[in-house]
Amino acid sequence: MSQYLIPTYARQPLAFVRGEGVWLYDEAGHKYMDAISGIGVCNLGHCHPAVTRTLADQAGQLMHTSNLYRIPSQEALAQRLCEVSGMQSVFFSNSGAEANEAAIKIARLFGQRKGVSRPTVVVMEGSFHGRTMATLSATANAKVQEGFAPLLEGFVRVPFNDLDAVRALGDNANVVAVLVEPVQGEGGINVPASDYLPGLRALCDQHDWLLMLDEIQSGNGRTGDYFACVGDKVTPDVLTTAKGLGNGFPIGACLVAGKADGVFGPGNHGSTYGGNPLGCATALTVVNTLTDDVVAGVAEKGAWLKHAFTDAFADLPMIKEIRQRGLMLGIQLDRPCAELVNRAREAGLLINVTAGSVVRLLPPLVINQTEMQHLVETLSQVIHDFANEQEVA
Ligand SMILES: Cc1ncc(COP(=O)(O)O)c(C=O)c1O
Repeated sequence: MSQYLIPTYARQPLAFVRGEGVWLYDEAGHKYMDAISGIGVCNLGHCHPAVTRTLADQAGQLMHTSNLYRIPSQEALAQRLCEVSGMQSVFFSNSGAEANEAAIKIARLFGQRKGVSRPTVVVMEGSFHGRTMATLSATANAKVQEGFAPLLEGFVRVPFNDLDAVRALGDNANVVAVLVEPVQGEGGINVPASDYLPGLRALCDQHDWLLMLDEIQSGNGRTGDYFACVGDKVTPDVLTTAKGLGNGFPIGACLVAGKADGVFGPGNHGSTYGGNPLGCATALTVVNTLTDDVVAGVAEKGAWLKHAFTDAFADLPMIKEIRQRGLMLGIQLDRPCAELVNRAREAGLLINVTAGSVVRLLPPLVINQTEMQHLVETLSQVIHDFANEQEVA
């Protein structure tokens, strides 16, 4: 590990030099299946040829001009994102946390303009929204917040997937918005009841609150619709996304509609790099490739994997539950299982363990049937070996 890097990450002891589709190759030429897609980023797989081509062409033509001028590819990407989401306009950022920063600022401005002097955003237990001061304050993870007091005020936290808890805030005059992930990712692939988002939409309408959906992980085809809210037939007031939007190029977006459209005006927000020609041309190819060829197959692939894992683990009481929507899968164990990451890697499989005891899988959406079979067989072997050793111990 390099002494020249600030050690904010507990890195695994390997480096990759090449990627293609669902596969990564390390310095020694070993091949690994990437079942976490660079944490939900490479939805089209590594080095998708259409994305690489656009990126290279655009880099040779024009990378950056700044938002002092019109940027045609930014306008085209905004239009395409609005078409696939039902939203009305877009602010571009460079990451997920920054997209959520924009959302939180919109909520505050929306509140201030209607005379709420201490605007408050409802956030959820189990949530993850990023690592900047505002987004870590919105995040429900003591480890993420530890040592960074004073946190930003203006958040109130309730249990996830609990409409009554949100309803109970109806007489809190400071509440101006609800910020929620349609499926919690870092929190352990928590899939709410099908009436949860529609129920939140109704409560937000009733109380004149903004419904703000963090689709940074669940967006860009991951759940089987371009955005999870499209599948739930809910149009939020604010929708944030990043990760899969650039398939590896850093770009984020904060989309608005309804009550949130028109809240930001000139001077309210900005970003030097946000929406630059290189990122927008690349992301436009990503969105078009996802919608043309890929998203339609995601629900079926996810259902197949859930079924196959359910069969593979039928004999293991250690497996408590398999949660899934599209190609977001969480295998809930009854005990801490962080060591599965190393064990899987030694078997040539890259996975992630989140919330201590959940194996999180976010494979590239382009994964094919043979590769899915390989994923199930490899992970099944790894978890069975783990279970056998635990029994002996
Ligand atoms: C739901 C959600 N929101 C926000 C973020 C933060 O995104 P970024 O790391 O690009 O700032 C993440 C990243 O994991 C996420 O999963």
